[in-house]
Amino acid sequence: MTNSKWLQLDEKAQNILIKNDRGGFTVPTAGLYPYQWNWDSAFAGWGFSTFDIERAWQELESLFAGQWNNGMVPHILFRSNDPDYFPGPDVWGTEQCGPISSSGISQPPVAATFVRAIWEKDKTIGNNRLKKIFPKLKAWHKWFMTWRLTDRNCIFISHPWEAGRDNSPDWDNAMNPVGVGKYTRRDTSHVDGSMRPTQEDYDRYLWLVQRGRKLKWDEELMSVNRPFEVADPTMTFILLRASRDLLYMAEALDVDNIEISEWCSTLREGIETLRNPDGGFFNAINCRTDEHSGNITSASFLNWYAGIDDDETLKILTKTLEETRYPIPSLSINSEKFDGMRYWRGPTWVVLNSLVGIGLSEMGYIAEATLLRKRTQSLILEKGFAEYFHPLNGTPGGGDSFTWTAAVWLAWASPSNGEY
Ligand code: DGY
Repeated sequence: MTNSKWLQLDEKAQNILIKNDRGGFTVPTAGLYPYQWNWDSAFAGWGFSTFDIERAWQELESLFAGQWNNGMVPHILFRSNDPDYFPGPDVWGTEQCGPISSSGISQPPVAATFVRAIWEKDKTIGNNRLKKIFPKLKAWHKWFMTWRLTDRNCIFISHPWEAGRDNSPDWDNAMNPVGVGKYTRRDTSHVDGSMRPTQEDYDRYLWLVQRGRKLKWDEELMSVNRPFEVADPTMTFILLRASRDLLYMAEALDVDNIEISEWCSTLREGIETLRNPDGGFFNAINCRTDEHSGNITSASFLNWYAGIDDDETLKILTKTLEETRYPIPSLSINSEKFDGMRYWRGPTWVVLNSLVGIGLSEMGYIAEATLLRKRTQSLILEKGFAEYFHPLNGTPGGGDSFTWTAAVWLAWASPSNGEY
């Protein structure tokens, strides 16, 4: 890639973040996702930190402005009402729960890791900001350890949207909804239905929202006879990684770190239980039945990101990278459930790939990390800043001018970040 080409892409990516800025927070993309999403926002902060450090802090701070009293940071903050999105604030019914109208579930906690990255970029600006946000990050991690820890010491999700991998086959066998009632989806008015979760998936999503609403989103009440509880590699690896970063920041701030250190040990212990006994890879587990999903997803490769080396996964990664010229797909192309354009059932997502790449480079797998990064570079160069891409032919899918794709370009994929 020539210097001028990537500089043009840097500028384009910056403009996407600026265009998706709604005044101190970004939307993932106009139309399809018109609110502030949790992990999208954390990625946006990381992207902003490459050209506007003040705006980067603002993004994270605006996300934590929506933190509930119990420590949870919701997966969507509804800062305005947009009838073009479903399910909106009137469906979730969380009025009493937090300072800003929101959903009632959370999302993968990448925020502490990006706070650390933003702080490390400029500590003269960052030290005071870090002091303020640190207790909020800690309270959120504590919420995960209190309400989302399985007895295997992994993190479970209480809703497919909580993992951020909405329609992954990882949740297929975990729930049968009944009596959802009539509703109108809005997502399929923005993008083609073949790229979105099926109607059956949506019934499941809605049914769980209705249950939470009935129980007033009270975690104690919701924990009794949960109909959906799946131990998830995305959540477990990401929380472990984020807790390690939190521990580092606690030490820098010279505040008590014992509890955080215990969380790291607990999660580290739990990871091994996610290993599929037949295939050796890390996968999701239905906590109701103890059944392993048997799926190799992009989340199966997050172990290095969490600081865990693994020969078995390295072998599977090598094979996966041989099977396509694009970055890791969200579901193995050999799975009978593989569907190359349907959201989290096959497409490749640059966000997940950036986390895998970061982990690989940190643990010394420079060749693999470089390959993932170069593939991401050419994918974005050829196909643009889409939400995701077909992993075999690169066709862009979902929303366009996507915040987190632009952010990943700026903070990780762009050659402006130098070599590993
Ligand atoms: C959606 O609306 O598709 C979102 O992924 C829910 O978080």
